[in-house]
Amino acid sequence: MAKNKTVFFCKECGYESSKWLGQCPGCKAWDTFTEEPVVKKSISSGGTISAKEPELLSKIEAKEEPRVNCGIGELDRVLGGGIVPGSLVLVGGDPGIGKSTLVLQMCREIIQKNRKVLYISGEESLRQIKMRAERLGVFNGELLLLCETNLDYIEEAIKKHQPEIVVIDSIQTMFKEDVTSAPGSVSQVREATAALMRIAKILGVTVFIIGHVTKEGVVAGPRVLEHMVDTVLYFEGDHYASYRILRAVKNRFGSTNEIGVFEMQNTGLAEVKNPSEYMLKGKPEGEAGSVVAASIEGTRPILIEVQALVCRTNFNMPRRTSAGTDYNRVNLLMAVLEKRLGMQLSDCDAYVNVAGGMHVTEPALDLAIVVAILSSHKNIALDSKTIFFGEVGLTGEIRAVNMAEQRVLEAAKMGFEVCILPQVNKEKLNHHGIKLVGVKNIQEVMRMMVTR
Ligand code: TYD
Ligand code: MG
Repeated sequence: MAKNKTVFFCKECGYESSKWLGQCPGCKAWDTFTEEPVVKKSISSGGTISAKEPELLSKIEAKEEPRVNCGIGELDRVLGGGIVPGSLVLVGGDPGIGKSTLVLQMCREIIQKNRKVLYISGEESLRQIKMRAERLGVFNGELLLLCETNLDYIEEAIKKHQPEIVVIDSIQTMFKEDVTSAPGSVSQVREATAALMRIAKILGVTVFIIGHVTKEGVVAGPRVLEHMVDTVLYFEGDHYASYRILRAVKNRFGSTNEIGVFEMQNTGLAEVKNPSEYMLKGKPEGEAGSVVAASIEGTRPILIEVQALVCRTNFNMPRRTSAGTDYNRVNLLMAVLEKRLGMQLSDCDAYVNVAGGMHVTEPALDLAIVVAILSSHKNIALDSKTIFFGEVGLTGEIRAVNMAEQRVLEAAKMGFEVCILPQVNKEKLNHHGIKLVGVKNIQEVMRMMVTR
């Protein structure tokens, strides 16, 4: 009897292997290999097969296709200035983070401009989508809905209705009949995306693919498809906080530095035009251990509050925790404080927290963390109109950071009066209606805090 051939795939990154492996050589994840039947590749790709001649680069005319503004400013920004016709966009994120909501809101804006949009859902019934739409508000214009998971029928529907934009919610529910493995498996997800890519390129429609990110479980994550699509957007956020960040991790038509900030409300996602104001809401005034830092997300300055609580420990091993920033970095900065300022921290518990649920790992946050720890340890409250940024080195020196000007401008815009920043950065900056104070090392910072 002929044995069915199978291959093994990594669920995280799609690495293919003929035998089972404990650790994936591609992404180094453990125990992620699953066995799937071999997909018989059909050669017909929809078009005619003929050998192509190479062409001269100088002879190729590239006209910039006009982008379609999707009406949601934050989304347009992340896409690089609107939707590029004929592109394939993957929107990934944890289940329940708001992917379907975001895309449905985008559809609402686009149909208002008399463009044809087809929303294909394999997860929700038509009634459920209608209920969600009602929550979002009035839909002016007609949106085509289809509940279908078979890609052959989906292809037919796209060919018949000729929409400009197609939404697939979600790729993990879609299947092609000639692939024998279950929907959501690596081969199905890959083949389904390949089929959609073909449709997008042949018919010139833009396809938005929604994909769930899964840490474990049987469903293949969007990581498997990242290399196949033009743009990869990740929608992330803390489940406990209502803000969401949309981030481009790959964009063939724009920069990957942009982020969009949204807030989940009971009428859908609202754009957060001023993230700094949002992050600083509810900041305590005149309390020791609370410091405002100017950080950069992508190319956008965001002011955030860093809090520290340092107190005597009741244990042999002092407890240290950090939320919203790198734990090891906090430990390192505390070691620098011990060594360079002679502070006795080994008998202190220290808790560091970035308020608002943001996760910031950039080194420019160092100075704020150091000042927050100092402030809490010495019980010195800081002036609430002062803001900090700068990287702290191992010898206690304050090093220059990138995009200092944007940080200073944002601080001035938000009404801060004093900005403490690396001396090296200060020398290159003009005044922007805010007092700039350059510092060279943490000893200087300490002196300033004590003598103030
Ligand atoms: P959803 O878009 O279904 O998430 P995904 O498609 O990423 O799985 O959003 C799910 C969550 O959003 C759900 O828990 C309810 C919440 N939500 C609101 O808070 N307000 C709203 O207006 C909508 C539509 C959803
Ligand atoms: Mg959904």
